[in-house]
Amino acid sequence: MSSIPSIPENTPHILVLGMGGTIAGLAPNPKENPLQYQAGQVGVESLVNHIQSAIPGGIKLVSRQLANINSRNLSEPLLTGLGLAVREAINNPAVKGLVITHGTDTIEETGLFLQATCGKLAQTQAKRVILTGAMLPSNAPGADGPSNLLDALRWASTAIENCPGGIYAVMDGRGCMAMDLAKRHATALNAPLQNSPSSSVGLINPSWLSGVKAIQAAWNEDLPIPQEDEWPWVEILTSHAGARPETVAHWLNSNVQGFVVAGSGQGGFHDAWAEPLGRAISQGVAVVRTTRTGAGTTLPNIPEADVPGCRAAGTLTAPRARIGLQLALNAAKQANLAGKPMTWQDFFARIADLPEIR
Ligand code: SIN
Repeated sequence: MSSIPSIPENTPHILVLGMGGTIAGLAPNPKENPLQYQAGQVGVESLVNHIQSAIPGGIKLVSRQLANINSRNLSEPLLTGLGLAVREAINNPAVKGLVITHGTDTIEETGLFLQATCGKLAQTQAKRVILTGAMLPSNAPGADGPSNLLDALRWASTAIENCPGGIYAVMDGRGCMAMDLAKRHATALNAPLQNSPSSSVGLINPSWLSGVKAIQAAWNEDLPIPQEDEWPWVEILTSHAGARPETVAHWLNSNVQGFVVAGSGQGGFHDAWAEPLGRAISQGVAVVRTTRTGAGTTLPNIPEADVPGCRAAGTLTAPRARIGLQLALNAAKQANLAGKPMTWQDFFARIADLPEIR
């Protein structure tokens, strides 16, 4: 990680944290083939310098490179580093807001992670943390990164009356809660926001804003950030035609601590998995059930009675449910170490049962 360039300690600024992604990508032949490129090639300082002249006067920017990766390679230790950096910045009175440049492939996981670990802090400190990225590499004709970054910087530095502090995301001129962000198209410029409840960032939509406030009212306490080497091992298993019991049974001799089952339709899974999943639960593996469709709520005992011990994921998609389950398992472990008898289900319910913006 590179360090923050020195500016006088109390100078108010927006902190831009670079994680990599297509927004920092370079294509060898951008005109002929802009979709063949390498993500995470350009430093965050260059991305900021590129749009410096368009940034509203008076806003001081500080950039810090935390990683420069293709986000398909996002790791749990990197999430720990990002979460700690975000918390530290929110608690720094000189930081007025944060922008995070990130790959869009796994921005869904990072959005949920930051909401669950830093959402309350951002709200109470009245600071916006804004994730952004791009679908085209930085040297492609019509690259979307500069305008996304500019929108994110403007929103991060807008007076807080416009919309409360919290964890948000910006793509293609629209803003949403970061926990609602999900890439649902391989190439479209608005891919990460296509199915997310959102608002224009220029003119905040009142009904979206009241949805944000309902979620923030229900989110009472941030979960602990797992230490780099303490993330519970959780796998996503996708049910499909021809699913075999061995796909689940295979794991039962491993140290896996949780499964997120991405079921079909309303979150049902192949009958062949009922017996090995029951065995997994009786061995102490945490099992959460969601839908592989990518949208909609998974309800308890729908479409049929749950395998005892299996928890429906509510509004969480499979990638979000995986992060949520990891955080819940870790939070329960920390609570038990502190003598509080809480279960992973207690913590998971806080995330999975949040209201939805409609
Ligand atoms: C990545 O997720 O790092 C590559 C894809 C993207 O940013 O759109």
